[in-house]
Amino acid sequence: MITIKSEREIELMRKAGMLVSEMHQFIKPYIKEGITTKELDKLCEDFILKNDAVPTCKGYEGYPATLCTSINDRVVHGIPDNTKLKNGDIITIDVVIGYHGYQGDAAWTYAVGEVDDNKKYLMKHTEEALYKGIKEVKPGAKIGDISSAVQNYAESHNLGVVRELCGHGIGREMHEDPEVPNFGIPNTGPRLKPGMVICIEPMLTFGHRDVALLDDDWTVITQDGSDAAHYEHTILVTEDGYEILTPRLDKEDI
Ligand code: MF3
Ligand code: CO
Repeated sequence: MITIKSEREIELMRKAGMLVSEMHQFIKPYIKEGITTKELDKLCEDFILKNDAVPTCKGYEGYPATLCTSINDRVVHGIPDNTKLKNGDIITIDVVIGYHGYQGDAAWTYAVGEVDDNKKYLMKHTEEALYKGIKEVKPGAKIGDISSAVQNYAESHNLGVVRELCGHGIGREMHEDPEVPNFGIPNTGPRLKPGMVICIEPMLTFGHRDVALLDDDWTVITQDGSDAAHYEHTILVTEDGYEILTPRLDKEDI
């Protein structure tokens, strides 16, 4: 069931989304060579708790941490541990924050120090693919319009579209209907209405799109070892388009 949020619910989701944005802004300066993903996780958990909010992933189906920290060929759900970031790595920080019962969810891929041109290309075009999807959001459009815009952009830039994972509705729960795949056909799927809130989150690879699951039962990696990037925003469908509930605070959303 796809829920339509009331004005009151939207206000709480704006607040949850803003905390997600603020947490990304808070952690960005710490993303440097030598810090461990566990240290990043602890800093973010403290930040969330100090803000009267909840790290929703922690304990979700047994997930042990606040953040998902996915380095290089890790696509999603990398569990924070004692791995130290190295110059030239890319790391995706993905977080879900609950505020008074409502969720916000956003992921960004960050460069650690100076990264090579292939990684820069992957990051730039994965981020762009997210905004291609977002620009399709308006009342009357369908989920397939978003999916195909993301897929077309990604594939025309020779990036692999991970198919095993997709975006989702969000509200009281971090995962609600509808599913928002990153591949699909225009004018198919559920129709968007004002008050719906969805997460759009392309996960793209520099090589082949096939993925595998590590023995920890969480970490998704690329099968061929190529790098992956992941950008995600929480998006409200408005009367005439969309509102990004997790706006970037370090630069303009495009
Ligand atoms: N941000 C992730 C998502 O969009 C959250 C998954 S976290 C975990 O779906 F709790 F499932 F680990
Ligand atoms: Co999500």
